[in-house]
Amino acid sequence: MLVPATVIVGAQWGDEGKGRVVDLLAAEADLVVRFQGGNNAGHTVLVDDQMYHFHLLPCGLLRGVTSAIGNGVVVDPAVLLEEVDALEQRGHPVGARLLLSENAHLIMPYHPVLDRLYEQALGDEAIGTTLRGIGPAYADKYARLGIRVADLLNDAVFRRRLELNLRLKNGLIEQVFRQAPLEFDTIYTTYAGYRERLAAWVTDTSEVVDTALDRGERVVFEGANGCMLDIDFGTYPYTTSSNTLAGAVCAGAGICPRRIERIVGVAKAYTTRVGQGPFPTELVGELGDQLRERGQEYGTTTGRPRRCGWFDAAVVRKAMRLNGLDSLAVTHLDVLDGFEALRIGIGYRKDGEMLREMPNTLYRLDGAEPVYEDLPGWQTDTSEVRRWEHLPPNAQRYIERLEELTGVPVGFITVGARRDQCLRRDG
Ligand code: GDP
Ligand code: IMO
Ligand code: MG
Repeated sequence: MLVPATVIVGAQWGDEGKGRVVDLLAAEADLVVRFQGGNNAGHTVLVDDQMYHFHLLPCGLLRGVTSAIGNGVVVDPAVLLEEVDALEQRGHPVGARLLLSENAHLIMPYHPVLDRLYEQALGDEAIGTTLRGIGPAYADKYARLGIRVADLLNDAVFRRRLELNLRLKNGLIEQVFRQAPLEFDTIYTTYAGYRERLAAWVTDTSEVVDTALDRGERVVFEGANGCMLDIDFGTYPYTTSSNTLAGAVCAGAGICPRRIERIVGVAKAYTTRVGQGPFPTELVGELGDQLRERGQEYGTTTGRPRRCGWFDAAVVRKAMRLNGLDSLAVTHLDVLDGFEALRIGIGYRKDGEMLREMPNTLYRLDGAEPVYEDLPGWQTDTSEVRRWEHLPPNAQRYIERLEELTGVPVGFITVGARRDQCLRRDG
């Protein structure tokens, strides 16, 4: 049974399968809410043989559930409208089911431009961002230069804010990066053209969510990115630019902390990451390739091959502590089916000491080596298993070991991307 306020967050570096877990919960939900991130997210839902990719829209729309984009999200209106059109063309009406926070910040055309310029300027130290303008848009939000959804609806305000921003951004683009400036008229006309369609969805989503919770409705908060990409506690600077933790729901959706009743972390049965940055249990070579091919580990947003490695309990343990996870949904168990032997990273050894959590500061990882525990694999196909008792004993043992090492009970296991390919342990 879904409790009124359930939060779904990624417990690793993103792409854990949050979208498909939200989709499963959405079957019983009244409202689904995105609260951070932007179209750097790529949430995939497979319904029969139909694949859906969500970047900005909450996955709830696939079930016809009212879905809100909260104030904590950075919104690229072109992407939003394209995604709405694409979903509607595939027979899923969006219309009045979508709500858009008036306080959400807009991604403007100069944000992806700056994202690319910064990445190029960083050279070897580039983050490997999705180049969607996420970092520059959040930077403007916190510098109080941002343009919010409500600003776009007021022509005079929008003009003024755009003029101000272009003055500053073009200064940077021309004088620092020696690139051609962006034109006011083009951006103004394009964004004014979005106004009417967006206006229909704009509201105070914080109030909508609160009212829904007051009425006892079931709200699912759909996290994006993942715990290790959190701007404060992730592998900074190789992170995204928002807080991805469950706590971000309060500020990013506009509800008070006491409202949250259940927090579910999603973790793959192994680990992947896209982009640069540390990944102690990464497998380079044959085993990594095997995981990538079996798991079809290519980015949903950018198509980049994902880096693959063993499950890292030091990562998920940190996610457990920071998010206060009530349970874990372990996805992609089927991908491990063919392996003879499996490993779980249990921590990192540095100067004779054990680090039990991914450190906050990267140089603390220098010289640290992952410590592994070896477990036997199972050479049986789990993709058709629907009950815990029917899993091969070694797969049960593997899951139980993940529970022990992370301190979180596994409530949910998936053995394939389709809706039916899942089993619950909690009844
Ligand atoms: P998200 O960003 O956390 O929503 O995850 P993504 O959608 O980016 O990546 C998860 C990928 O794995 C998608 O292609 C899913 O269709 C697929 N997937 C989800 N669960 C499973 C599973 O249990 N087994 C397999 N083999 N694939 C899965
Ligand atoms: P979902 O919601 C995986 C990664 C990027 C890059 C870093 C910064 O699908 O799990 P950004 O564009 O946010 O400035 O990029 O963060 N990243 C993700 N990796 N899944 C995601 O989202 C991600 N969102 C951002 O690859 O390394
Ligand atoms: Mg993804």
